[in-house]
Amino acid sequence: MTRATWRTRVGFVLAAVGSAVGLGNIWRFPWLTAQNGGGAFLLLYLLVVVLVGVPGLLGEMVIGRRSGRNPVGAFGALCGDRWRPLGGLALFASVVVLSFYSVVGGWILRYTLASATGAYFSAPQEYFAAIDYGVGAAGFHALFLLATAAVVYVGVDRGIEVATTVMVPGIVLMLGGLAVWAGTLDGATGGYEFYLSLDLSYLRANFFDVLGAAAGQALFTLSVGAGAMLTYASYLGEDRSLAADGTLIAGLNTGIGVLAGLVIFPLLFSLGVDPGAGGPGALFISLAGAFADLPYSNLVGVAFFGVVLLAALSSSISIYEVLVSYLVDEHGASRGGATAAVGTLFLVTGSGAALSPSLFTLLADTIANLALTAGLLGFLLFDGWVLGRLALEEYELGAGRIATLAGRPWFVAIAVILPLFLAFTFVTGIGGVVGVTPTAGQAGAIAVAAVGGCIALFSRRSRA
Ligand code: TRP
Repeated sequence: MTRATWRTRVGFVLAAVGSAVGLGNIWRFPWLTAQNGGGAFLLLYLLVVVLVGVPGLLGEMVIGRRSGRNPVGAFGALCGDRWRPLGGLALFASVVVLSFYSVVGGWILRYTLASATGAYFSAPQEYFAAIDYGVGAAGFHALFLLATAAVVYVGVDRGIEVATTVMVPGIVLMLGGLAVWAGTLDGATGGYEFYLSLDLSYLRANFFDVLGAAAGQALFTLSVGAGAMLTYASYLGEDRSLAADGTLIAGLNTGIGVLAGLVIFPLLFSLGVDPGAGGPGALFISLAGAFADLPYSNLVGVAFFGVVLLAALSSSISIYEVLVSYLVDEHGASRGGATAAVGTLFLVTGSGAALSPSLFTLLADTIANLALTAGLLGFLLFDGWVLGRLALEEYELGAGRIATLAGRPWFVAIAVILPLFLAFTFVTGIGGVVGVTPTAGQAGAIAVAAVGGCIALFSRRSRA
């Protein structure tokens, strides 16, 4: 059977933007921003997106387009079977991310419905506490998963491409409308000030914490590290400029993320709610609770959670597709069989996260960041030290003049600089898990040693 391809370039870009724009932009971003000093976080996050996210995204897409395979098959097809296990990192990251993501997707689905009836209006805190984990949460998680599976089952071009081509413009229009409306609320200016004002003293005092949070968020929001973008790029039929597409994808994702902030912060401030309060529950407690005080509250609630639901679905589709493409490419499964098998897996892992708050938190707060970082590290070291020249060649296929000029710097960045940076954040992240806080110097030294060791190993093995 011939492998599927996107029908149009716009279709690919929108599918990738749909993957990128999701709960990361709307649910995770506001409370991270609030917890990390507002504008200071925004600034650092934007920098990391440009300097690490975009080159990393290209490093991932290069492997997908060159091989025309899923992450595991890609490594094998390009450089021999002994590299296949490296792709396993990406599959692992996909499982981690979707296992908690679909639980939050289930919450969103439930809130979309509950907004219509106003179920949470009178006691938002109690409502969220009653539905967040447990059998009901597992049930809604399963419904969200089913919706994801339905799109994936229909296929790459007729399912994913068609769905995201409708969803992404819908998300932009609805968020734009909500942002304009939020600006008309009394007290909205306080929200803009918090969001856009820069408190450098906060940044100076907490630099490495803010940097770590910004880096994790940049990878998460660009869907990098789990092989989703690799898989999407593997369905590209022609060699157009990856650099142009990648920049466009990242630009649209960031723009839509900032737009989401322009909805959420004015809303919170106009209603006198502290944006940092509530952490991951902020969207569901502070924001949803605040809807009750607004005119047309049911409509506002349905519109808001409806957009978030679309955004979440177009993201979960991309993670689900990673595993489906793996089963189809490598094990000769039919699309239907693969979709069912992947669904069964996530039914189990996601239900685990829905039933156990501690498992959920472990996955969402800690393991996801680490797994994505490790996954991207694997891709980039492979590009730099195993594929080598071929990675640069693939990047240059279809690239315009400016992108071609940026080729060599890009290659140096993904082969050396980004791995050092990623290893550094990985080490500080692991330190947080085991409860030791290395100094920046110690973490840096470990990162240099680890990356150096990997480079030596990778280049030896690729010549062997
Ligand atoms: N980027 C999406 C968001 O911000 C989530 C997502 C989709 C993702 N695919 C991914 C995150 C792959 C990491 C890896 O909501």
